[in-house]
Amino acid sequence: MKTNLRPERSRPMRKTNRRVTQQRIQDRKKEGLMITLKEGVQSRSSSTLLECVHLIHNALPELDLDEINTSTSFLGFELAAPILIDSMTGGTPAATRINGRLAQAAHEFGLGMGVGSQRAGLGSSVMAGTYQIVRKEAPNAFIYANIGGAQLAEGLSNGDVQRIIDMIHADAIAIHLNPLQEVIQPEGEPRFRGVLARVKELSQRLHIPVIVKEVGAGISAGVAKRLEKSGVSAINIAGLGGTSWAGVEQIRAAGEHVDSKARLGDLLWDWGIPTAASLIKTRRAVKIPLISSGGLRSGVDVAKCIALGASVAGLAHPMLKHAAESNESLTHFIEEIIQQVRATMFLVGAKETQDLSLADYIITGPLQYWINGE
Ligand SMILES: Cc1cc2nc3c(=O)[nH]c(=O)nc-3n(C[C@H](O)[C@H](O)[C@H](O)COP(=O)(O)O)c2cc1C
Repeated sequence: MKTNLRPERSRPMRKTNRRVTQQRIQDRKKEGLMITLKEGVQSRSSSTLLECVHLIHNALPELDLDEINTSTSFLGFELAAPILIDSMTGGTPAATRINGRLAQAAHEFGLGMGVGSQRAGLGSSVMAGTYQIVRKEAPNAFIYANIGGAQLAEGLSNGDVQRIIDMIHADAIAIHLNPLQEVIQPEGEPRFRGVLARVKELSQRLHIPVIVKEVGAGISAGVAKRLEKSGVSAINIAGLGGTSWAGVEQIRAAGEHVDSKARLGDLLWDWGIPTAASLIKTRRAVKIPLISSGGLRSGVDVAKCIALGASVAGLAHPMLKHAAESNESLTHFIEEIIQQVRATMFLVGAKETQDLSLADYIITGPLQYWINGE
C-alpha cells in the first residue's frame, strides 16, 4: 500500500539503492497480498455494525423482481450495479493475474474498480504493467488510480501523480489515508503533516475526480468536513469491520521479530470507526458522494449502505479471495452479490438503486451510541 521512493525534492538516490528500494517495495506488496489471502486478517472483536441496521420489510412492494434496476451513476460514470472492486493490488508480479481477473469481472459486470497504490509502477515499467493490465482488460470500466496521502506530503510531485493517472488512463484517483498501518508497519513512515494541503492542491489541479479513502479504520465527521472543504469529489469511508491493516502489519512485525510493533499491532488490531457508524456520521456531515466499504460481505450489506446514504459500495478482500481462486469463483461470487442486492431492493420496494435511499430502517444496539456521540 505504501512505497519507499524518495520525494523529488530530496537528493537523488544512487542507482543501487533505488534497485534495493524497488525490491523491498515488491517484497512488501507480495507479503501484503499473501498475508491477506492466507491468514484472512479480518477484524477480531469489532464488526461493521451493519447488523444494527434493520431495513423495514415491505410486504407490498408492488413490483416484480425482474423490474428491479440495479444500475446507477457515480461521479458521472454509469455502473450496472452500485459496486466497486476496491483498491488492492499491483507492484508485484503476483498481482498481474489477480488484477487481470478483477478487471475482466469489472468489464463483464459493469462495475468500477480501483488498483493498489501505484508508486511501485513509477520506478519500473515492468511493475507499471501489473497495473496496466486493468485498463487492458476493462477498456470502458470506471477505473480509479491510487496513491498514499503520506507519499504526497513526502514530496511525490504533481508530474508523478499525472504519470500514475496516465499509467492506467484512470477516470478518477483515490488518495489513501492509512495512519494506523504506518504506525505499526516495521518500516512505516507515520508522517502525515501536509497531507491535507496536497489533497487540496490536487483537487484543484487535476481534471479528474479526487476520491479520498481510508483503508479500514473509517472516516469521522470532522475529517469528512475538512476533506469536503478541501474540494475532494468523493470520500470512501472504508471503516472498521473487515480487513485489518493493523493485523497485516502485526503479522509482518512478528515475522520480522520487531516485538514492540507486533504488540502494538495486537493492541490496535480492531482500532477504528465501524463502517456503519462512519457512514452515518459522515453522511450527516457532508454533501459530496460517499463510497461505503470496509467489511461488506453480502448484497444485503451493500443495500444497507445505499439506504444509509452511500452512492456505491466497495468490496476488497472477498473479491481478492475469489480472484485468487479462479475466474469462475469470482464470477459466481459477483453474480450472487448482485442477486442479493436485487432481492433486498425487491423486499423494501426499491425499483431503482437510488430508491434504496428512501427505504425505512431502524438502528439498534451499539450503533445508536456511536451515532449519538461526538
Ligand atoms: C490485499 C489488499 C491490498 C490493499 N491495498 C490497498 C492499496 O494499495 N491502496 C488502498 O487505498 N487500499 C488498499 N487496500 C484496502 C482496501 O481498498 C479496503 O479499503 C479495505 O481492505 C477494506 O475493505 P474489505 O474489508 O472489503 O477488505 C487493500 C486491501 C487488501 C485486502
